[in-house]
Amino acid sequence: MSRIIVFTGKGGVGKTSIISAHALRAARSGLNTLLVSADMAHNLGDVFEMETGGGRVQAAPHLTILELDPGRIMREHYPDLNRSMMEMLGGSLTRAADKVDSSFMIPGFEDLFMLLGIRDLYESGEYDLILVDCAPSGETLSLLKLPELLEWYMEKFFPVGRFMTRALAPVTNALYKVKLPDEAAMDQVSLMHRSLVALQDLLKNPQVTSVRLVTLPEKMVLEETKRTYMYLNLYGYHVDRVFINRVLPPQTGNSFMEEWRRIQSRYIEETESVFRHIPVTRIPWYPKEIKGIQAVELLSKELPDNEVLFASPASLQSEDSSCGGAETYEVTENGYRLRLSIPGADHVSATLCDRDLDIRVGTVLRKIPLPNVLYGAQIVSTALQDGMFLVDFSAPAAHKALR
Ligand SMILES: Nc1ncnc2c1ncn2[C@@H]1O[C@H](COP(=O)(O)OP(=O)(O)OP(=O)(O)O)[C@@H](O)[C@H]1O
Ligand SMILES: [Mg+2]
Repeated sequence: MSRIIVFTGKGGVGKTSIISAHALRAARSGLNTLLVSADMAHNLGDVFEMETGGGRVQAAPHLTILELDPGRIMREHYPDLNRSMMEMLGGSLTRAADKVDSSFMIPGFEDLFMLLGIRDLYESGEYDLILVDCAPSGETLSLLKLPELLEWYMEKFFPVGRFMTRALAPVTNALYKVKLPDEAAMDQVSLMHRSLVALQDLLKNPQVTSVRLVTLPEKMVLEETKRTYMYLNLYGYHVDRVFINRVLPPQTGNSFMEEWRRIQSRYIEETESVFRHIPVTRIPWYPKEIKGIQAVELLSKELPDNEVLFASPASLQSEDSSCGGAETYEVTENGYRLRLSIPGADHVSATLCDRDLDIRVGTVLRKIPLPNVLYGAQIVSTALQDGMFLVDFSAPAAHKALR
């Protein structure tokens, strides 16, 4: 089965350099590799020192690079979808905003087409490995939570797959002041809904997709890396490796650099301790930029062996690993329990909001639609245990009778 590996991290930490090294290593080992940039400030062309504008470019044997253009994917592959979605979202978002809290406003809807483009490339079956170079962490999180957010939105405001459009149109109109699409557009909405579900199945499937974080041995960067890791887990993404880039060599023979090395050691130790459940790889600081195939090749020598670098992420998970994976539910003596892995979080809250469970971590809110079985249930208690957030629900009255 082919793999997708997504790279993210704070701006300028070395994401593009390290992903390029992965790409070259994979291609040299004979894997048909596609390196895509989902960062609108594309610079794969700079690293490989070639013209990349427009479409796929062969950078080396078995290695194709592509700088994604969401506008182009939208125009060329999803013209109808875009038109009907824009009509509905544009018309309803602002008017519906008074019905719900503002936390679900949709940032960068167009970027969704980047993800759809990646899914299409995956489904084409042309590549053994797809490497995705992302924009800095904040934007990557917005991008990766987009499919779930949009799915939530569509299910809330459009009777996707649940009711007949025509039967509900007048009711919905009155209730939400949303312009319901006509039948043809509704087909597009259903199609989009199915695409969003499929996209999440792909991106949150740890057998297929994993995320790699690039960090530096510095306080601010490490703090952002921890937050990114936590939020990725909150949304059910599987992080399978962390790279600490720009590690100074052991002997510099220079007191200024020695002081920096001492500072770096402290943060390297902290990074390895925080991420003890996942492999951490150190990458040295080179005396020159990573530009051109030779420089990328040099960097690729620092990566672990191919068997671990490109193995299925799930097969690498250690037994005590508490990272990654979507939420799960289990039956308990008095009701149900939701388990969600959010390693590194120290303040998590859960509240019921209509038919959603709102989980807040720091400034981030994730709305998890409750399964039918939990409609009418109440939250009895919550707990945070070793990076696992637990929410205990009472069984709804109707279910108690059946037990
Ligand atoms: N280990 C290293 N040693 C020396 N230079 C490095 C190293 N890693 C990256 N660089 C250089 O640092 C700069 C930033 O690297 P890169 O473009 O890979 O970062 P990025 O995280 O992709 O940045 P952005 O957030 O802007 O996309 C580049 O000039 C690159 O050549
Ligand atoms: Mg970059």
